[in-house]
Formats: sequence, C-alpha cells, structure tokens
Amino acid sequence: MPESAGEHKHGIFRRILLTGIEFYTYVWDFFFTAECTSQVILHDKTVVITGGNTGIGKETALDLAARGAKVIIGCRDTEKGKKAAEDIRKQVQDARVIIKELDLASFSSIRKFAAKILKSEPRIHILINNAGNIAITYLCS
Ligand SMILES: NC(=O)c1ccc[n+]([C@@H]2O[C@H](COP(=O)([O-])OP(=O)(O)OC[C@H]3O[C@@H](n4cnc5c(N)ncnc54)[C@H](OP(=O)(O)O)[C@@H]3O)[C@@H](O)[C@H]2O)c1
Repeated sequence: MPESAGEHKHGIFRRILLTGIEFYTYVWDFFFTAECTSQVILHDKTVVITGGNTGIGKETALDLAARGAKVIIGCRDTEKGKKAAEDIRKQVQDARVIIKELDLASFSSIRKFAAKILKSEPRIHILINNAGNIAITYLCS
C-alpha cells in the first residue's frame, strides 16, 4: 500500500528527530565526558572509596583494582558491596577488593569505619570521597 502524505511527513520528522538526538549525544560525549586513560600501576597502593558498590564509584574501584591497587569500598549495604566486589573479581582476577560498612549519614558509622581502617591499614594512599557528594554552588554563611 502506498505511503500517505501524513505517514511520509511523520517518517521525515522521525528521521530528523533521531539525527538530532544522535548529534546532541555525540557533541555531549565529545565535550563533557571524560575517560581515565592512566596506566599507572598501583600494586603498592591502598585506596579507600566511599559508595563504590554502584555507579561511578564501582567503575572507579574496578579501574583501580585492575591496576593492582588494594581497594577498600565503604558502603552502607554490605550485601550490595559484596556483590559489587564479586562483579569486580569476575572482571579482574585476583582483584584486591575489601568491603567495609559505612553510612555517611551517621557519625558513629563513620567513626567505626575510620577506626577499622586505622587498625588494618598502615597507610592510605588514595581517598576517593565519591558517595553523598552533591554538586552545589559555593555559599558563604
Ligand atoms: N552521575 C553523574 O552524572 C554525576 C555528575 C556529577 C557528580 N556526580 C557525583 O558523583 C558521585 C557518584 O555518582 P553516581 O552517579 O555514581 O551515583 P550513584 O550511582 O547513586 O552511587 C552513589 C553511591 O553512593 C552510595 N551512598 C549514598 N548515600 C550513602 C551514604 N549515606 N553512605 C554511604 N554510601 C552512600 C550509594 O550506595 P547505595 O547503593 O547504598 O545507595 C552508591 O554506592 C555522587 O556523589 C554524585 O553526586 C555524579
């Protein structure tokens, strides 16, 4: 059956819209996304990362573990944390990933987390404050 004028217009509109979205995504990726390309070996480094069980934190933990670092992930749900550690180990054999409980909304939890780290680690080389960070504008009070 031949295409009606309405369907033809709709098809053109859809194509223009999809091309626009593709172009926008390309421009956004080009200017606003960043990729860590560092190959620095981190075998003798210990990293602490907050909220590394999902999102950017997990990807960061994966990259650092792949480069040999010992990665301590602080997360409020240790079951989710263990699952993330398993995922990382599936991708990086012998990844050194340790899960410790940390709820940044509780000072008592933060103190317990810090005390455990102080007890087990002679030195922290890299601290990544990933969780609970909200991009707000600078304010003076
Ligand atoms: N994604 C972006 O485009 C973007 C842009 C700018 C800045 N950021 C910042 O980058 C960071 C990570 O972003 P994302 O997109 O990866 O976020 P996400 O996927 O929501 O991950 C946030 C992580 O923080 C943990 N978390 C939240 N509250 C916590 C608490 N009270 N104590 C301990 N852990 C807590 C979450 O744990 P649960 O799994 O238990 O919730 C999760 O692991 C955030 O600080 C965000 O503000 C992100």
